[in-house]
Amino acid sequence: FLAQIGPDALLRMILRKSPGQRTGDDLEIIYDELLHIKALAHLSNTVKRELASVVIFESHAKAGTVLFNQGEEGTSWYIILKGSVNVVIYGKGVVCTLHEGDDFGKLALVTDSPRAASIVLREDNCHFLRVDKEDFNRILRDVEANTVRLKEHDQPVLVLEKSPRASTLGSIKYTVISGTPEKILEHFLETMRMDIHHNPAVDDFVLMHCVFMPNSQLCPVAFLFAFNLVCTYHAASPPGSEQERLEYALNSKRRALIMTLRWANTHTYLLQEEPAAVSFLEELYGSLSNDSRMLRALKDLVPDLEKVVKLQYKTLIRQFSNGEERLQKKQPIRNHDDILLKVYCSDHTYTTIRIAVAATGREVISAVMDKLGTTDELLLVHLSSAGEKQILKPNDVSVFSTLSINGRLFACPREQLNSLTPLPDQEGPTAGSMSTFELMSSKDLAYQMTMFDWELFSCVHEHELLYHTFGRQSFKRTTANLDLFLRRFNQVQLWVVTEVCLCGQLSKRVQLLKKFIKIAAHCREFKNLNSFFAIIMGMSNPAVSRLSQTWEKLPTKFKKFYAEFENMMDPSRNHRSYRLTVTKLEPPIIPFVPLLLKDMTFTHEGNKTFIDSMVNFEKMRIIANTIRQVRHCRSQPFNPDICQPNKNQAEVRGYVRKLCVIDNQRALTQLSYRLEPRRT
Ligand code: CMP
Repeated sequence: FLAQIGPDALLRMILRKSPGQRTGDDLEIIYDELLHIKALAHLSNTVKRELASVVIFESHAKAGTVLFNQGEEGTSWYIILKGSVNVVIYGKGVVCTLHEGDDFGKLALVTDSPRAASIVLREDNCHFLRVDKEDFNRILRDVEANTVRLKEHDQPVLVLEKSPRASTLGSIKYTVISGTPEKILEHFLETMRMDIHHNPAVDDFVLMHCVFMPNSQLCPVAFLFAFNLVCTYHAASPPGSEQERLEYALNSKRRALIMTLRWANTHTYLLQEEPAAVSFLEELYGSLSNDSRMLRALKDLVPDLEKVVKLQYKTLIRQFSNGEERLQKKQPIRNHDDILLKVYCSDHTYTTIRIAVAATGREVISAVMDKLGTTDELLLVHLSSAGEKQILKPNDVSVFSTLSINGRLFACPREQLNSLTPLPDQEGPTAGSMSTFELMSSKDLAYQMTMFDWELFSCVHEHELLYHTFGRQSFKRTTANLDLFLRRFNQVQLWVVTEVCLCGQLSKRVQLLKKFIKIAAHCREFKNLNSFFAIIMGMSNPAVSRLSQTWEKLPTKFKKFYAEFENMMDPSRNHRSYRLTVTKLEPPIIPFVPLLLKDMTFTHEGNKTFIDSMVNFEKMRIIANTIRQVRHCRSQPFNPDICQPNKNQAEVRGYVRKLCVIDNQRALTQLSYRLEPRRT
């Protein structure tokens, strides 16, 4: 009898037995079969033996049969013994075909998320081996391949990897390693948790997508998803009961809405500058409002959406004037804001033009030419106080915010380039301001400096850190708020050097060093590490550090403080000393931002953004983590009551916001040698 029915039929007969009824011989036969299946090749023989006792045979007669639908809960894993199936995704149709020896249905089991695709039989009479979820988890969970690769039309579209921090409870954690932008988005929309407040994976995406998927591309996908327009590809309506369909629709809408809200909250005012984003939000809100059933089901999220939509109408044009830094702090500077820009000619006369913050070098030049009524070809030049010239490129964006402290913009014909000279006021002060600020308490000074730094720091948009890292040219966006914050760092540093170098009297100079050490100590106390570093770096500038007669007279106590502070700047072991200090602090903190930027640039330069046309999402995650450090520092508001300032606080405030400095290192060094000539 056995000889008559043949080996295939025998195997099928055995596989149809319920696992409990299989004899030792049966298991041996199944095991032998499993040894030849491609999808199991990576598994050990022990695992295959275990599988032999649990695999179930399943066959379907008709092409077109749906094994399961996208969005359903995953209950089993399948291996194809005979025949072929189509992998079908809403909105995309058939994305790939699987054949004998291939497997499918693992993703939902390992990520504990809904089915990412529907599986439809491609031919009559297909045979499968099936492993149910419980057995899968028991036998395969820990040995399952570390990497899951998904393909569409023979191209890899998503690579997931078992996270080393595999969660002990429930499913294994798989994280996105790389993928096409659309597939990554699709994956997050399908697998994200329904929790609006805690969703780190989605955070990485909404924070970083501008690097690889602009809003104009993202919004339509999110929209389709939110409204299940993606379902319309189905000739017939998707199978499943009415109730199931409704639930699926509701879940997708909720996820899309959560993603949208997080996206909007990350972009904040930047959205107003993008018509695609604004109309996406309006449409989303509009269609939701028209569907009372959905509105009821999503009512916890609707007020948030309303808030976001309303915010978009407040598009005001504001005006800034460079130089007037006191005006520039209160609100973030936006690309569409206008700025008044002074542009000088070679004879030191100037014109003032009004132009958008994100204007390019080309636009600035043509505005200047208009104003001057000239058609001569002009160059836009950044002239430093030391007379260094840098010709700005036509594509440079937001030129005003990257000028050096005493740098100015000049416009001139090429033949005048060599004769450009700095304006007298670019040289900076000729006398120190010690007589003014020695009357102010160190604590008040540190406090007002911190207040100012907070205003500047709060204006820095998280995206500016990205634009800065990936090159703002390619985004055509300003990083003005970040630039001004970094510029302040330089300014404080130069302030220290300038004051010391302009102080002719030795005893006064010693007083000055003491004062700066005290201010630095208070900055640290206010958790303003940015200005703290600026002051210490100013004191370690060669023009100051070489003044040995001054340092000798510094009381031991202050020398000790300074040595301790300098230690914190020690760059060894990747700035370990500073990093340890920061981790011990609670927000609000003003971190040493140049170091954070260095970290991001390091990651950026050391890792490709795209690998084989897939986004290197691990890189995105590392950079997102650094941005989250900034977010953490600002997660608590700065409390202005931490210091009871003295009566003269308005004066102190005015002083720290208008520091006049010499920004020419050579001039500073010369002054320093005049104070304490080289010993012979
Ligand atoms: P799961 O999500 O459990 O159910 C659908 C299965 O289709 C999925 O697991 C994968 O095993 C398989 N599949 C194959 N290619 C793709 C693809 N490009 N996208 C999603 N799923 C795919």
